[in-house]
Amino acid sequence: MCGIVGVLAEKNAASMAFAALKRLEYRGYDSWGVAFKGGKSIEVLKKTGKLPESFSFQAGSGTALAHTRWATHGKVTEANAHPHLSNDKTIAVVHNGIIENHEELKHFLEGKGFSFNSETDTEIIPNLIQLFMGEGQSFKEAVRLSLKKIDGSYAVVAMHAGERELVAARNGSPLVIGLGKHSIFAASDVPAFLDHAKKVVYLNDFEMALLGKKAEFFDVLTGKQLEKDVEEVNWSIEQAQKGEFPHFMLKELNEQRFTIKKAVQQPKGIIEKVSSMIKNAKGVFFVGCGTSYHACVSSAYIFSHVAKMHVNVVLASEFRNYEEFLEKETLVIAVSQSGETADVLDAVKTAKKRSSKVVSIVNVMGSSLTRLSDETIMMNSGPEICVLSTKSYTSQLAILLLLAYVVAGKQVEGHELVEKAAALSQKVIDESSAPAKELAARLKNSRDFFLIGRDLAFPSALEGALKIKEVSYIHAEGFAGAELKHGTIALVEEGIPCIVFSTDQTRPLIMSNAQELKSRGAFIIGIDSKPNKLFDYFFRVEEVGNANPILMILPIQLLAYHLAVEKKLDPDKPRNLAKSVTVK
Ligand code: AGP
Repeated sequence: MCGIVGVLAEKNAASMAFAALKRLEYRGYDSWGVAFKGGKSIEVLKKTGKLPESFSFQAGSGTALAHTRWATHGKVTEANAHPHLSNDKTIAVVHNGIIENHEELKHFLEGKGFSFNSETDTEIIPNLIQLFMGEGQSFKEAVRLSLKKIDGSYAVVAMHAGERELVAARNGSPLVIGLGKHSIFAASDVPAFLDHAKKVVYLNDFEMALLGKKAEFFDVLTGKQLEKDVEEVNWSIEQAQKGEFPHFMLKELNEQRFTIKKAVQQPKGIIEKVSSMIKNAKGVFFVGCGTSYHACVSSAYIFSHVAKMHVNVVLASEFRNYEEFLEKETLVIAVSQSGETADVLDAVKTAKKRSSKVVSIVNVMGSSLTRLSDETIMMNSGPEICVLSTKSYTSQLAILLLLAYVVAGKQVEGHELVEKAAALSQKVIDESSAPAKELAARLKNSRDFFLIGRDLAFPSALEGALKIKEVSYIHAEGFAGAELKHGTIALVEEGIPCIVFSTDQTRPLIMSNAQELKSRGAFIIGIDSKPNKLFDYFFRVEEVGNANPILMILPIQLLAYHLAVEKKLDPDKPRNLAKSVTVK
């Protein structure tokens, strides 16, 4: 979680680090900090809370570090915010990850006379570096030896008061090197430096970079120099900016007019290749977390209806319980926007341990998941900055739908269906925007929302509930239509908002469930292609058969957004959340 940045620039390194950090704010926003050179020493600025819009730094040439935190070790305080300094204040470090043997290392360092000012595990790193430099090691070698002592995960950037170089390294947490004309970056994610660098080097686990006049790469474990490929990113800086929109959530939600279609415009052969892997597999598992998991749940229905095939859907965090059922011929399809979600990476490692094949459906190029997979289908959604998944969800649904149709030998039909949904998405977004705003104003003080759907619309109810609760902090629960009456209907009272997802196929039964809620005083919000006398409020969403989930979620994404705005909450950065959940 946490976003880290290291910058090496001819001038204004501190301001550049801050600007880069601003673009990583979605990765964590409990507290932040910047370290930069002030003469011969290192100046550190730390604050709790979200990053301000801008900040001016008096000095800071050469090297600078920046960090935005999502707390794991220690409370949200200035002392616990990064960067952390060594005892002699010559070394500063920013870190994303968890040091599992930090207690042991802390005792070791205390035994050598070191003291600690924070409750974090990170503070160990600059002090280990100081220790090794005190023993005569170079800065780079001292970082390497320190990292060799660490068990756990890290993306780390270190600077030294007396050096014009940065050292960056990764193991288990994302880190990418950006090579600009006049600057070099190390950052958790590419949007951080898109305005300065489009040439990138993705670090693998146990790799480190020495960033000075040029970038050199080394193996952390052996110290051996490495040749690394330089790649070109195809994201633009505009894609990583809000533009005319007040929030990234609204911008990204609106981009679905284009991204759904882009999702199925894949390089020649990849969809066919993956569909034949699906057909030939001995058991297929779809794994993901949160919204991506909901896309997987949808795929179970789609594969059953379209490809007449059973697939298993498992929460990535629970996947290890299925290990003994994995064989060489098993296929695991990992779905993830970021490609960095720790639970998903863990599931994939479980699969690889059993020699099963892995396909990933990912949005972020070069992410860890892409490098662990046998095949990757890119979602082509462009950067998704808002913590909430919106456009990535509908892209995932589009790809999964197409795969099912190709497995069924109905490629053309699959493409036509996604394209129909993509074309209609514009209409649904436009027609739902004003009503969603009006409804949000009316329902902003609600205590609970219940959402129901049957069949393909059931995962839409799960995803709709997640959208509402994570951004508006209103309790919301999604159910399969018939399930509510097995207990939760006891909570339904006069005026409680209940969202009913209805389709041509499910209408008769879901309406009888809606009637059960209405009889208990519920305020019924219908998502349907046809009005109904049971609906107190109605969002018209065209019927597109198996592509219904792509369109049905759009009004609820809009409603969730407006609920947050009505409650004066920041939809892009809901409390306690971070975009990439890189801890298990
Ligand atoms: C939902 O809006 C969240 N962004 C979250 O549930 C997310 O889908 C989950 O953390 C998985 O992330 P991933 O797709 O990057 O793996």
